[in-house]
Amino acid sequence: MSFKARIKETANRKDSRIVLALDFPYQPPENRANVFARAQSVLDIVHPYVCAVKINHHLILPLGTFDGVQQLVGQVHAKGLLAIMDAKVNDIGATNQVIADYYFAAGFDAIIANPFVGWEEGLKPLFEVSRRLGRGVILLAYMSHKGAHEGYGQTIIDAETGERTSQYVSFAKKALKWGADGVVVGATYPQKIAEIKGILGETVPIYSPGVGEQGGTAETALKAGSSYLIVGREITHAGDPAQAARRLLDSIKGV
Ligand code: XMP
Repeated sequence: MSFKARIKETANRKDSRIVLALDFPYQPPENRANVFARAQSVLDIVHPYVCAVKINHHLILPLGTFDGVQQLVGQVHAKGLLAIMDAKVNDIGATNQVIADYYFAAGFDAIIANPFVGWEEGLKPLFEVSRRLGRGVILLAYMSHKGAHEGYGQTIIDAETGERTSQYVSFAKKALKWGADGVVVGATYPQKIAEIKGILGETVPIYSPGVGEQGGTAETALKAGSSYLIVGREITHAGDPAQAARRLLDSIKGV
């Protein structure tokens, strides 16, 4: 089963379209041992309210890919959830392939990549590894932060058609053409979500980070066309992460 189908099945089973971004602040060397314990304890109490967990470089760095993170991914799976690596893969194909091999060997079900590097000797090897191993690739289309327009919002000349278009429109079309399992569009840009949904329809689901701390709202993103919400600090930095996750989930029931 494709990653796209697996996360849909998991979201239906859990009745949640929330992807937990397991993010924590920097810790000095003497406190790093606590990072694993904190990640584990948030996972233990929040897992009933989410369908997947997204791990970023700033958790890989203190934990290490084959010690802490592989263990954590095992725990994510044991709780019936999927694990997404937010690597924003962005290099030449040969390097991308090795990056993906390591993360998939650590157990990740999908990886996030940047379509800016293109297909031949860019993301093609990454898609090939992912397909061979039955994992997913999710592409950036329009990021959630304020400066996103400087890159994703640029007007470009499409390399194939010669037509003027927007970078994010071109990335959404590439997601369709390359058979991506999802695209990331910030919850902070609901109009972009709606526009990209118009291109992707039901074929490629939209993942939206930027809820809460970055100013986006869950309901608006879902109504605009997002399938999944990626939520970090609103949950992980809350005094009671389980309550924060449950409250968010309750707020989107029926949306
Ligand atoms: P917060 O705390 O803002 O965290 O809920 C969001 C998480 O998602 C990551 N992030 C993105 N990842 N494309 C991505 O692939 C994006 O546009 C994007 N915006 C935020 C962020 O690094 C954090 O882990």
